[in-house]
Amino acid sequence: MKTSIFSLSALSLLILLWTGCASPAPEAEKEQVVNLYSHRHYESDQKLYDTFTQQTGIKVNVVEASADEVITRLEAEGANSPADLIITADVGRLTRAKDLGLLQAFASAVADEIINPNLSDPDKMWYPITVRARVIAYSKERVKPETITSYEDLADPLWAKKVLARSSSNVYNQSLLASVVAHLGEGDAEKWVQGMVANFAREPKGNDRDQVKDIAAGVGDLALVNTYYMGLLANSEDPAERAAFEKVGIIFPNQQDRGTHINVSGVGLTKHAPNKENATKLLEFLLSPASQTALVQENYEYPVNSTVTDLGPFLMGLGEFVRDEYPLYKFGSYMDTATDISNRAGWK
Ligand code: FE2
Repeated sequence: MKTSIFSLSALSLLILLWTGCASPAPEAEKEQVVNLYSHRHYESDQKLYDTFTQQTGIKVNVVEASADEVITRLEAEGANSPADLIITADVGRLTRAKDLGLLQAFASAVADEIINPNLSDPDKMWYPITVRARVIAYSKERVKPETITSYEDLADPLWAKKVLARSSSNVYNQSLLASVVAHLGEGDAEKWVQGMVANFAREPKGNDRDQVKDIAAGVGDLALVNTYYMGLLANSEDPAERAAFEKVGIIFPNQQDRGTHINVSGVGLTKHAPNKENATKLLEFLLSPASQTALVQENYEYPVNSTVTDLGPFLMGLGEFVRDEYPLYKFGSYMDTATDISNRAGWK
């Protein structure tokens, strides 16, 4: 009996050694990876990737790049790109990547079930992971919020020398303007921009947070800003940023008509993704309630998974609002018009 067990074990060992030498390592033993080019550089994103690796054994390699580098790098590398996914903010950039032929379709029944089609690509080449609203920040000291209810009001001569803006080359402004072109037509959109430019308190400069700080400093009274920047200021470790936030209120524009402009940050599947299945797993992981809760509570963005209802104190404090439900991807076709309007109207 003992002999036969020994023989069996010895035979198994021989077979193992032989197969080990004769063939490459089985597929399952290869290191599983997914490679991201990301324009988001939040600690909370890295924590999520670590959790994904713990749960699946798939290592997440992140190359951080500026938003435009994400696309130019992918373009330059072509079929040799190691990237599986790009993560970037704004539908303007996601549609640009798609139009340049840099993406391919995901196959994810999970994403199709969770995501509102108005927020994603009809060809499934990118999906949103978070939503943000572009709101009007105002000086609590100098503006009565009921006097401004729409984006169009920013062009009212009442606000001469009171409107602060960042550059029109910023994609958040381009997408907002594209939405105005889509809703009002090119002529009215251009009049709006002309009126707003005439109201500028200074040359456009800085980022969204700088506009809020300049309202607090008295440089101007009104500015366009994405909601999560208000959350970041409100919860900043820098007391000066928290103090700036305290002086500024938030208006959700166009609540009586088309709704407030929203946008997304999203994930695109690259055309030559070497690890397509792992990329799809990561997308689905990011859409899970646990990941969505982390994104919402740590970055002050809105979830795309509607089962997530605990938005955390900051967003809960802002309350509910009417969103512009126009399909986001359609704004892509108005981006060139938006740029032309900005140039003609002298919005630098
Ligand atoms: Fe941003």
